[in-house]
Amino acid sequence: MGRFIPLLALASSALAWIGEVKEENGVKYQCKCYSDNACWPTVTDWTSLNTTVAGALKRATPPGAVCHRSLSTAGVSNASTYNAAACADAQANWLNEKWLTDDPIASLWPLYTNNTCLPTSDPNSPCTQGFYGVYVIMATTKAHIKAGVDFARTHNLRLIIRNTGHDFLGRSTGKHLTELRGYGSLIINTHSFKDVTFTTKYTGIGNWTGGAATVGIGMQGRELFKHCFDQSPPVVIVGGECPTVGWGGGYIQGGGHGPLSSIYGMGADNILSFDAITVNGEYVTANAVENPDLFWALKGGGPSTFAVVTSLTVKTFPEVPTAGTIVNINSTHTNDTAVFNKGFTIFHNLANHYTDHGMFVYFELSTGRLHIAPFVGPRMNTTQVEAVLKPLFDQLDAAKIPYDKYTRGFPTFFQFYIDMFEDEQPNQNSIVGGRLFSQTDIKERGDAVAEALLFASAPTADVGGFSVGHILNPGYGVPVADNAINPKWRNASSFVITNVIMNGDESWELKKERENIQTNVVGAALRKAGPDGATYVNEGDLNEPNWQTSYWGSNYPKLLELRKKWDPEGVLYTQTTPGTEDWSVIDYGTKLCKAVS
Ligand SMILES: Cc1cc2nc3c(=O)[nH]c(=O)nc-3n(C[C@H](O)[C@H](O)[C@H](O)COP(=O)(O)OP(=O)(O)OC[C@H]3O[C@@H](n4cnc5c(N)ncnc54)[C@H](O)[C@@H]3O)c2cc1C
Ligand SMILES: *[C@@H]1O[C@H](CO)[C@@H](O)[C@H](O)[C@H]1NC(C)=O
Ligand SMILES: *[C@@H]1O[C@H](CO)[C@@H](O)[C@H](O)[C@H]1NC(C)=O
Ligand SMILES: *[C@@H]1O[C@H](CO)[C@@H](O)[C@H](O)[C@H]1NC(C)=O
Ligand SMILES: *[C@@H]1O[C@H](CO)[C@@H](O)[C@H](O)[C@H]1NC(C)=O
Ligand SMILES: *[C@@H]1O[C@H](CO)[C@@H](O)[C@H](O)[C@H]1NC(C)=O
Ligand SMILES: *[C@@H]1O[C@H](CO)[C@@H](O)[C@H](O)[C@H]1NC(C)=O
Ligand SMILES: *[C@@H]1O[C@H](CO)[C@@H](O)[C@H](O)[C@H]1NC(C)=O
Ligand SMILES: *[C@@H]1O[C@H](CO)[C@@H](O)[C@H](O)[C@H]1NC(C)=O
Repeated sequence: MGRFIPLLALASSALAWIGEVKEENGVKYQCKCYSDNACWPTVTDWTSLNTTVAGALKRATPPGAVCHRSLSTAGVSNASTYNAAACADAQANWLNEKWLTDDPIASLWPLYTNNTCLPTSDPNSPCTQGFYGVYVIMATTKAHIKAGVDFARTHNLRLIIRNTGHDFLGRSTGKHLTELRGYGSLIINTHSFKDVTFTTKYTGIGNWTGGAATVGIGMQGRELFKHCFDQSPPVVIVGGECPTVGWGGGYIQGGGHGPLSSIYGMGADNILSFDAITVNGEYVTANAVENPDLFWALKGGGPSTFAVVTSLTVKTFPEVPTAGTIVNINSTHTNDTAVFNKGFTIFHNLANHYTDHGMFVYFELSTGRLHIAPFVGPRMNTTQVEAVLKPLFDQLDAAKIPYDKYTRGFPTFFQFYIDMFEDEQPNQNSIVGGRLFSQTDIKERGDAVAEALLFASAPTADVGGFSVGHILNPGYGVPVADNAINPKWRNASSFVITNVIMNGDESWELKKERENIQTNVVGAALRKAGPDGATYVNEGDLNEPNWQTSYWGSNYPKLLELRKKWDPEGVLYTQTTPGTEDWSVIDYGTKLCKAVS
């Protein structure tokens, strides 16, 4: 099979362009190589890559493929996949976060796989690649990651770094809901990088002399918290609330909020050094002295944007006694919508009050259901938490809003975390959006913010929604770190993820309509209610208007320059990250291409 190498060579590129040249609506594009293109690597090329990675290259097989007779992919030979025992296992574990994150390629948010190849009870039903990539390197060494980056660069393949598959926005399957971004890609799985070492006194670059940990890129939230707790004395690291979300991958590179952010800042604020592989396949360290610009950008500048991180060194802090409260208002208490809405508004209008006391609050909101689980009071005992929350319960009582609550205190944050946080359920279908409301938004327009959030639970007569909120102010009493995170986070009060509920089997047109509801109905209401706010790239809308400013504020121009420096050709790609403006998905959403005219 001949390789298709157009004569056109980019002036800025050392390599001749290998790939399809396409034209759509008068714009000329150069596309990544896909499995239905002549430029797709030959079997010999893949075999050679497999040799380089010591056999760690696998066909990327959707987790439900074991329930189907065979997997078919354009341009690649079909694989027979059925295995009754493995199928029963897949069916039993379809809502198990750990099982899914341990899978080589599974995405926990099936809309971003096109809901392809589900664990059916009909083995004859078709299983296609959907939005998943075609090959995956199950990397166990840095050299495997480098080999994957080099192969994707030289063969012009869409490259996906897959840590846990947790990304709400499908960025680890590498496609967009209705645009098949990443269809035909090479995936590098970093899940096995779980090494961690602790020191009680950091002696590396910079002025930090407290404790530190060096953490492998595959480490997940709860396992990292557990390692911290097992130290003597126990320590804490700022991480997210979800037990299985990766810690050092998308989380840190997007900024990273968590239950201790109100006292210790954002996840990315606390990084001391990164080890990474550049898009040119070079091993680099990035810290305050070595590659300080890359150091700055990796701290919140966007996942899969500047380099592939392999490990991180982060500040540890002393454990803290922690107390908190769980509150419910739902149909057990009232079916009166006006009463419920008033209760939510009272709760949410006190957001600045909670953060002024260093609290973090996690809540879930849908029509008639508010589940606050939990209020987190670091460095507090139950008496202190009850004192901070007294105005809330006084106001609810005065307004005759029924609710239930309980408060518990623990000697450490870790014990609190294990007891008071709940696991989320994966494999739900929704289109994500959201907004960060500032202290000013809450103070000056709290009722309007609450109203917009209540509206997001039922934006139209036939569309349902639910929201996940995080009340925190990572600027409160914490020295401001110099990094790429949107400066708006320093005045944050409430960051809420909104979801438009989907079935997953909607037509292309209906998916587009529902995306429009998230962006232009729900999103418009949120922006109107919170004009001083911002959005969060890890938990935001892929169609966010003015995403550059919305996600990064005044840091965007510098991030754009750094993207041009560290990945000028677009070896990495994640939608709505710095420097991706020229890239689009054309040809009915199947090809990731860069406009060249
Ligand atoms: C249930 C749930 C709870 C969450 N809770 C929180 C929370 O409390 N706080 C918070 O801030 N966020 C939270 N998030 C959002 C989370 O930060 C993002 O989904 C994040 O992208 C997950 O990163 P990951 O590495 O686990 O996921 P993946 O899906 O594997 O990767 C996500 C993105 O990061 C890129 N990436 C992964 N590893 C690397 C690497 N080594 N180098 C370069 N790029 C890499 C991927 O290519 C992809 O673009 C939550 C998400 C979910 C689904
Ligand atoms: C890579 O090599 C290993 C070990 O020989 C083999 O099991 C695997 O199937 C190969 N991968 C591909 C995609 O052929
Ligand atoms: C692969 O599977 C598809 C779908 O089942 C089928 O149409 C196609 O003929 C198969 N290709 C080969 C080479 O068997
Ligand atoms: C996605 O799903 C739709 C509906 O089942 C189907 O028509 C389309 O071909 C799928 N796309 C891919 C890339 O599998
Ligand atoms: C250490 O602190 C000094 C004084 O605040 C500052 O000027 C210097 O930049 C810091 N060094 C590093 C590497 O952060
Ligand atoms: C409503 O709150 C009660 C606690 O009072 C809880 O047991 C129940 O699960 C909640 N219902 C819903 C739908 O969340
Ligand atoms: C609300 O309605 C549900 C369903 O009809 C009912 O079970 C519940 O008891 C009602 N709650 C209250 C507080 O009346
Ligand atoms: C909490 O701490 C305060 C201040 O030290 C103390 O007065 C109070 O008794 C403590 N409450 C509990 C339940 O330990
Ligand atoms: C945060 O608020 C303070 C005062 O409340 C203000 O001075 C500062 O400019 C704000 N910062 C941002 C990034 O909005």
